[in-house]
Parts: sequence; C-alpha cells; structure tokens
Amino acid sequence: MKFLVTGGFGFIGGHLIQRLLEAEHTVHVVDNLSTSPVPLTVLMSDLKNPLNLTYDIDDLHNWLHYNDDTEWDVIFHLASPVGPAGILPFAGKMAYYIVRDTVKLIRLAQRSNARLVDVSTSEIYGGGEAGYCREDMPRIVPAETTVRLEYAMGKLAAETALINECQINDLRAAIIRPFNVSGPRQSGQGGFVLPRFVAQAMTGQPLTVFGDGSQVRAFTHVRDIVSGIIEAADYLNRYSRKARGQAFNLGNPANKTTILNLAERVINEVGSASAIQFLDGREVYGPHYAEAADKYPDASRAIKELRWQPQYDIEATIRSVHLYMTWSAANTFHELSGIEAKHPLWTV
Ligand SMILES: NC(=O)c1ccc[n+]([C@@H]2O[C@H](COP(=O)([O-])OP(=O)(O)OC[C@H]3O[C@@H](n4cnc5c(N)ncnc54)[C@H](O)[C@@H]3O)[C@@H](O)[C@H]2O)c1
Repeated sequence: MKFLVTGGFGFIGGHLIQRLLEAEHTVHVVDNLSTSPVPLTVLMSDLKNPLNLTYDIDDLHNWLHYNDDTEWDVIFHLASPVGPAGILPFAGKMAYYIVRDTVKLIRLAQRSNARLVDVSTSEIYGGGEAGYCREDMPRIVPAETTVRLEYAMGKLAAETALINECQINDLRAAIIRPFNVSGPRQSGQGGFVLPRFVAQAMTGQPLTVFGDGSQVRAFTHVRDIVSGIIEAADYLNRYSRKARGQAFNLGNPANKTTILNLAERVINEVGSASAIQFLDGREVYGPHYAEAADKYPDASRAIKELRWQPQYDIEATIRSVHLYMTWSAANTFHELSGIEAKHPLWTV
C-alpha cells in the first residue's frame, strides 16, 4: 500500500506515519516543516522501518503543482495552519489556502482512484448546541468575524467541496473532525493548552487560564485520533458506497472537562506548587486571538461505523504529555542523532 501523508511531520501526522510504518506500509510525506513540533531528526529517531519512508520538504501547493500524476492508494490530508495562535499569521488568506489545497488533493485522489481522508476540525460546528456537537446538526456561524472563524469556514468549505465530489463525481473520501487533541510531541507554540500548562507546572510558574476557565473541552490522546484516521481509510475500503462523503467526530466524550479543571489536574499530576492565574488570552497572543466556544463530541458515529474505541482517559493523556516533556527537558534535541536515541517514554 502506498500512502501519501500531507503534514506528516506535524504533531498528529508524526504519530500517523509512525503507525503506518510500524505496519510496514510505504509512506510519502509532504511537509514544509513550518509548524512541525520537533526537529525532523528527532522524529526520525522514533520511526520503525525508516526505509519505507520518503519525503519532500515543500509547500503542499507547490508540490502538487509538480506531482499531480503519481498513483496513491490512500491520501491522508493534514497539512494546514492550526492552533489558536498558530492560525493568526494566516489571517485573510487561510480560507483560500485550505480550500485550494484540499480541492487539488481531491483531483489527485480522483486521478489515481485513491481513498482520501481529510482531517478537518470540530471548529466547523461553531459551538454546536451549548458545546455538544453531533455530525447531523446544523453548522452554526457565530456573529463575530475572527481569524478563528476564517479557519473554521475554510475547513467547512473544503469539506463541502469534498462531500459534493463524493456525491456527484464518485470521489472515495471521508472527513475526520478531531476535537482537542494532545499527547507526546505536541508543542505549546501554536497556543495548545495542555503542553503549556504542563510546562508551566514543571517550572513552578502560574498556569495561565484564559477567561474564568469554564470553557468545556474533551481532550483526546493523539494515538486514539490516529486510530480513527486509519479506521476511516479502512471504512472507505469496506463500504465503497455508503462511506463516501461521511464525516466523523473524533473526540473522547468521557474526557470532557473545563479548562480550570484541566489546570488543577495538571498541577496534581506534576506535583507542582504552581498557582493558577486568570487572564485574557489577548494579553498573551494579541488582539486577534479568540477563544473557541465550548465544544465536546458525540462520537457515537465513529464508535459504531469505524469501530473506534478510544483507549486513553484524561489522566493518561495528561500523564503522557508530562512524561514526554520531562524526558525532552532532560535530553536536548541536538543530542539525538540516530536510532539509538529512541526513548521508551515516546511510546507511553
Ligand atoms: N491538534 C489539534 O488539536 C487539532 C484539532 C482539530 C483539527 N486538527 C487538524 O489536524 C491537522 C494536523 O494538526 P496538528 O495538530 O498535527 O498540527 P501541526 O502544525 O503539528 O501539523 C501540521 C503539519 O503540516 C505542515 N504544513 C502546514 N502547512 C503546510 C503547507 N502549506 N505545505 C506543507 N506542509 C504544511 C506543518 O509543517 C506541520 O508539520 C490539521 O489539519 C488541523 O487542522 C488538529
């Protein structure tokens, strides 16, 4: 099987290619390394069967221009601006980029009769019904226009094009809508809260909770998300007709928590004396930062159709971030140059 993974050196993508290579698949990654959370050598040191991996360090749009005739069995599309802070530099052009790249991948999938799994986002619900999000609910567009809205609308427009191509032109594609993902190798840089809290707790700094901390989220371990992404490709293989154009929430409803409660759990896990400090996220990330609305998934469609079974509860998810960050604080990345540098904590 020949897999193309866009954004395969990112946080989720790195875990995805790790799983594919373990299963002895052949994987090609296209990634411009713009937001990859760890240096490539560090990621490489953790990959089994590295000879099955090829890659191009390139912008996806540019790469597609010169590589539109290769045959693929499965395409996983993850390359995108991401993160509440990470999206801010893309204001005004992000929706265009997201739609343009997805539509080009749709064409590539059609030309090679590949299965395409588009990794979208739970942000397309705009908050659902008081945070609760089920796939067959209307999408609600909030009144306020923010950079975050442009990200959500770009993803939603790309989904819409993909679903129409499935219904009208026989594309074999499915959509994954991850909720809040976390786990080893995630960086706090894009504005992701769990690695930020863990870093703050480990260094005795106050945990910075934006607003009053009552925001509802459901954090899901990256390995569970990767299982669901791969299961979506299998589902497209099993059910050639009914699977096309289906969208699946991926988020563990059992891990529902408020951000304040998450901060308290992190302090407890780390055994830290850190305080909790409440502030406005705009003080940290600037005036264009916006908080997500409350959101948590109904995951019953993925559980029933994809046979998705999330394995990691919230404690295990927090612990895996803590163990990884403890290890990476003790091992500077430049010391890692080869396979022998592999560390067991990465498989926590
Ligand atoms: N992390 C989450 O909580 C979350 C939640 C919902 C949806 N998602 C979606 O999952 C996908 C992966 O997110 P992630 O958390 O792994 O982010 P990430 O930033 O770690 O990974 C994205 C990867 O894509 C690459 N990339 C970005 N733009 C590119 C381009 N134009 N050309 C080539 N490479 C490019 C980056 O260098 C990076 O390695 C994204 O599509 C995101 O929208 C993530």
